[in-house]
Amino acid sequence: MIYITRKEHFNAAHKLYNSNWTEAQNYEVFGKCANKNWHGHNYELEVTIKGEVNKETGFVVNLKDLGDLIKVDITELLDHKNLNMDVEGLLNTLPSTENLAIFIWDILKPKIALMGAELHCVKLRETENNYVEYFGGK
Ligand code: NI
Repeated sequence: MIYITRKEHFNAAHKLYNSNWTEAQNYEVFGKCANKNWHGHNYELEVTIKGEVNKETGFVVNLKDLGDLIKVDITELLDHKNLNMDVEGLLNTLPSTENLAIFIWDILKPKIALMGAELHCVKLRETENNYVEYFGGK
């Protein structure tokens, strides 16, 4: 078993805001991220898959194919979007880094299985200081 990682980028806007709370509660919990008029992040996405090395190619999967999959299914879906408003699958989700990583995992997992490998980790970096790693499960 060997692990291999592909990195991609996207930019998106969001706000962290729970509409069941008052504005003061939202600012207390989410700070500047609750800003009504949105803010943006340059997200860095790392997708790690695992599998066996194919004897004929020397690859687990062709990284260009993995890159294309991420671009088509994730980057084109999220890049330059408002994550609270523009992405159907996120409409009822608070677009935190955690929830976004789970959302990306759920899209990629079955497609990577079709490529003959297994999704191991979705790592999503929102800022220089913060990133989330999701390995599936609860
Ligand atoms: Ni934010």
